[in-house]
Amino acid sequence: MSNYSLVLTCPRGLERVLTAEIASIIGKNAACGNGFVRVENATLEDIYRLNLHTRTASRVLLQVANQHYRDEDDIYRAARNVAWFLWFSVKCSFKISIESTGSHLKSLNFAALRVKDAVCDCFREEYNERPSVDKDNPDIKIAVFLDKKSIAIYLDTSGEPLFKRGYRQGQGVAPLRENLAAGLLLLAGFNGEQAFFDPMAGSGTIAIEAALIAKNQAAGLNRHFAFEKWNNFKRDVWQKIRTQAEQAIINAPHKIMAFDEDKKIIQIAQQNAQKAGVAKEIHFQAAHFPNDKPCDDDCGLLLCNPPYGERLGELQHIQKNYFAWSAALKQQFSGWTAGFFTADRELPKIMRLLPKRKIPLYNGKLDCRLFLFDMVSGTHRRQKV
Ligand SMILES: C[S@@+](CC[C@H](N)C(=O)[O-])C[C@H]1O[C@@H](n2cnc3c(N)ncnc32)[C@H](O)[C@@H]1O
Repeated sequence: MSNYSLVLTCPRGLERVLTAEIASIIGKNAACGNGFVRVENATLEDIYRLNLHTRTASRVLLQVANQHYRDEDDIYRAARNVAWFLWFSVKCSFKISIESTGSHLKSLNFAALRVKDAVCDCFREEYNERPSVDKDNPDIKIAVFLDKKSIAIYLDTSGEPLFKRGYRQGQGVAPLRENLAAGLLLLAGFNGEQAFFDPMAGSGTIAIEAALIAKNQAAGLNRHFAFEKWNNFKRDVWQKIRTQAEQAIINAPHKIMAFDEDKKIIQIAQQNAQKAGVAKEIHFQAAHFPNDKPCDDDCGLLLCNPPYGERLGELQHIQKNYFAWSAALKQQFSGWTAGFFTADRELPKIMRLLPKRKIPLYNGKLDCRLFLFDMVSGTHRRQKV
């Protein structure tokens, strides 16, 4: 069977970037939703490739049911119509997650229980045995989405969410999710062929993702996926796809620089980079920004996620630094693109810089912007608009 309907979830604001990624990974079109994109007529091989290569998706979900419902019995029937025993073994543990937008049902927990009963009944009828539920570390995740009238049921092909690349051991304050960091780089036009500098790197997520892009290293090469536990898992196909990805790795053309004023966090970032296999590609340094220009390149990308104080006093304290940052950008980084990812909408005004793009994105629930500035010498005064 090779006509699966997939839903790939992603941080809100990255739908278009993910759509472009899907086109380049499997050559198929995707339709954008809000926080997800949809792909039709996908094959098992597409599922393997998407999980391994996407940098911006959070999960790849495969639709196994989609129909109208009125009550919990309809929910049971929708789940009972799926031949679960064809997908996974009775020895696998599973977990149901449920989300709803506008469902009239009184209890989502009860609806999830009905789906669990349907899965167990399906196995019992076939083998007189049922798989067990594991809420912490299940082999198989089943995702149920309800809206007012319809229920959609998905098998999670990824398992652990895809932003868990397997390299982050330690983290600082407010680390970015790996797929959001990769999305920022792709939105800023980074393709690995330019110099890169994160002056406030924290646990190094943006720099590590930049190094993975520069090395053309697939984002999921260091981890496992749920589809490896499915009955229909094609080990030879998977091995071929992984080998192709390993052979596609190149030497990064440019050094990537990641600085932070906090010495301890720089050590953690270094350990993370080591685990990701990109320690050699990144020059880490404990340094306060601004400082001496870290390299001689005439152009490149400076991209960072400065601290953002959610309380008023904290934010005002942070804003006091913006002018010094913008002075350094003008003096040292003309010819570069500078990107600041923050929830502080005042940043360009206080920096007295006019952004060429302001891209709305969510960092969890926080409504943020990626401000991109072209640092062209002498012409970046903020104009009145
Ligand atoms: C929000 S965190 C960055 C998180 C990072 N993107 C990650 O994924 O781990 C902001 C970082 O900026 C650093 N920082 C703040 N002001 C700085 C400055 N003037 N120079 C260098 N680092 C600074 C802090 O130490 C902190 O680690």
